Amino acid sequence: METPVLRVENLVVEFERRLTRKGFSLRSGTERLRAVNGVSLEIGRGKTLGIVGESGCGKSTLSRAIMRLQAIDAGRIFYGDTEVSAYPAKMPRDLRRKVQMVFQNPYASLNPRQTIYNILSEPLEIHFPQMNAARRRERVAELLELVGLSPDFSARFPHEFSGGQRQRIAIARALATEAELIVCDEPVSALDVSVQAQIISLLKKIREQLGVAYLFIAHDLAVVGDIADEVLVMHRGEIVERGCPDTVYSQPQHAYTRNLLAAVPAI
Ligand SMILES: Nc1ncnc2c1ncn2[C@@H]1O[C@H](COP(=O)(O)OP(=O)(O)OP(=O)(O)O)[C@@H](O)[C@H]1O
Ligand SMILES: [Mg+2]
Repeated sequence: METPVLRVENLVVEFERRLTRKGFSLRSGTERLRAVNGVSLEIGRGKTLGIVGESGCGKSTLSRAIMRLQAIDAGRIFYGDTEVSAYPAKMPRDLRRKVQMVFQNPYASLNPRQTIYNILSEPLEIHFPQMNAARRRERVAELLELVGLSPDFSARFPHEFSGGQRQRIAIARALATEAELIVCDEPVSALDVSVQAQIISLLKKIREQLGVAYLFIAHDLAVVGDIADEVLVMHRGEIVERGCPDTVYSQPQHAYTRNLLAAVPAI
């Protein structure tokens, strides 16, 4: 069997929460909230794993832990064969290169003072220091074309682009490192519906072309069903159901999944 690009075993992330005294509550001080409670998952090469669940169920915390942006309290995380959770804080460059992230808000995730050229050439300089300036220019043009933007845009700044175009730039930046997995945390939630569909089809095209895998988080079940090979339903930090989207959506086994499906407005 091929090694998955990502494997997570029994992951736990806790936050300290201050208890506020209300009425005659006997408890005070702090309590620990398990935002991620024993999550295990795997993503195969070129596959898309979707995660759905209501606000606050722990999706972003899970994705931040996978990106090593959030400390974990228990469990293990592997990129390929390498246990990245065994590294203390900063991972070696070659491991960081393999997993990249696209965030929900394309207005906040791109530095407004950098041109598109700088945004895309920076990861090239960091991860491919042997690449010369001419090749880097070529590569930036290739990346822009890959995400459906004109290479002529490279001298412009993020504010000159629409939300959908900015999300394309964020995807190009994730691809610059030749990542094997892109963690997308609500990548289309801030976009209007027609633009959402364009970004989803771009992600699918890139997946076919480059064989990149996605961890795709969204609260929109239809969007996840459209792109994911497998979907996990998350509830209060735990995975309560998993399977291929058609099966999970048509024959939900868990009461929480049935509630989630019932909450989708009928068209
Ligand atoms: N840095 C933090 N400190 C304390 N609690 C936190 C922190 N980050 C998240 N939490 C709590 O952990 C839980 C999970 O939050 P998380 O952001 O992972 O949810 P989510 O599923 O991404 O929600 P949404 O769909 O709204 O983005 C929530 O109860 C949240 O309040
Ligand atoms: Mg979130």
